[in-house]
Amino acid sequence: MSLSSSRQWTERKRLPKPVDLSEELGRYIGKQVSYATHGIHRYPAKFIPQIPRFCLESFSKTGDEVIDPFMGSGTTLLESYILGRDSYGIDIHPLAQLIAKVKTTPIDSAHLGMLSRQLFSRIRSDEDDNSEWIPEIPNRAHWFRDDVLRDLATIKKHVWRMRKGDSQDFFKICFSSIIRKMSNSDADSLIPEVTSFRKKLDEQGKTSFDAMGKFENTVRNKLIDAEGLWRISKELEEQARPPKVRIIGNDARDIELDDSEVDLAITSPPYASAVHYVSVHKLEMYWLDLLKDLAKLDGRVVGTSRAYMNEYRPWEPKTKIPELRKLLGELVEKEKKSAYIVYKYFDDMRRNFIEVNRVLRRNGRYCMVVGENTFRKVRIPTYVILARIAVNCGFELRDMYVYDVINRHLDIPRWNKSRIEKDYILVFRRRRASAIDCL
Ligand SMILES: C[S@@+](CC[C@H](N)C(=O)[O-])C[C@H]1O[C@@H](n2cnc3c(N)ncnc32)[C@H](O)[C@@H]1O
Repeated sequence: MSLSSSRQWTERKRLPKPVDLSEELGRYIGKQVSYATHGIHRYPAKFIPQIPRFCLESFSKTGDEVIDPFMGSGTTLLESYILGRDSYGIDIHPLAQLIAKVKTTPIDSAHLGMLSRQLFSRIRSDEDDNSEWIPEIPNRAHWFRDDVLRDLATIKKHVWRMRKGDSQDFFKICFSSIIRKMSNSDADSLIPEVTSFRKKLDEQGKTSFDAMGKFENTVRNKLIDAEGLWRISKELEEQARPPKVRIIGNDARDIELDDSEVDLAITSPPYASAVHYVSVHKLEMYWLDLLKDLAKLDGRVVGTSRAYMNEYRPWEPKTKIPELRKLLGELVEKEKKSAYIVYKYFDDMRRNFIEVNRVLRRNGRYCMVVGENTFRKVRIPTYVILARIAVNCGFELRDMYVYDVINRHLDIPRWNKSRIEKDYILVFRRRRASAIDCL
């Protein structure tokens, strides 16, 4: 479906009817969404690889350059690599950067296998007191048992003593993957939480705290993933120019690329005050020495629910976008701070549209995968407002697709209470340079 002109759409009340891909995308489950290294580490609100694949196949060709400005765990980057496109990825989250790097860096699996055997034997034979390797974690005893702390410290010591580089990063990701499982947190809660349900399981002896065994098993499984990526890389090496993956900078509002460098952008952005990305993986980040100041990092995340009185007190809601104006009005009635948080989110997304517009080549596409959410019991038609901002920022809405999501964003408060939600793929085409004032 092609929409003839963006102006035509902006003047209309509703978005055009999208093409339904539910049947096509609903078929993919289990192994089909975790091939190669896609499942190397958990990450909140990942999209299934078939979504960026659909965009890559529809709107780019071999050798093109692709960017994902909110790359998360790097799904777009890995798909770009497999399909022979060069790619750039950005994320503010230090663990996301490490996951994406490991996900997209092929390493000789025979070499990794040899390193893992050495590592296991060093860990098993270490009887030292390694408590100096236990990081500072606020409220540490709440999160980890003493025996677990000791075992994790021993594993960490030997991983950290490896030669720095790609292989060490692979083992860091294996180490990171067991942190949450070895903690006292409930396995099912997105943000770490010690629940009474979990305590009961512990009392009944139904949970394992064998960190060494867990680490070895995890490494073995991830070696299989690594082998898959290594095989793909060997096939790609036969091409004239194997694709490159680069993780650049850390802020989607300030892209470290020159103008007109990329052919296609694909992303699933964060939502206003929905997933607390920093808290989800805080335990892993403490262990990996990636988190110095949680509040500071959280304040830089697009969609943060952090707002200070000196920011929102003097702020007055002002926007050209009717849906946003209505929404802010509703929220101001409840609490000005909440309205400001939502406004700030859309303003940050405006900055992202301006930057993506700048780095895209003429007629380049920006595919954005996004739905709706709720905040303070108010429905936020995020995809509608983002589409309006994009059009004001020099894009034209060319195509629109929709598909059912079986509530995988476990704790994004959605508008519809049923387990089936809708996500949209908005396909924008760059028409002209952005004006600053597009909100
Ligand atoms: C929905 S997730 C992306 C998930 C990704 N598609 C995947 O498959 O893993 C959104 C991401 O935006 C990131 N993010 C938030 N603020 C950012 C910013 N200012 N610059 C870059 N990334 C940011 C979050 O850390 C999070 O990883």
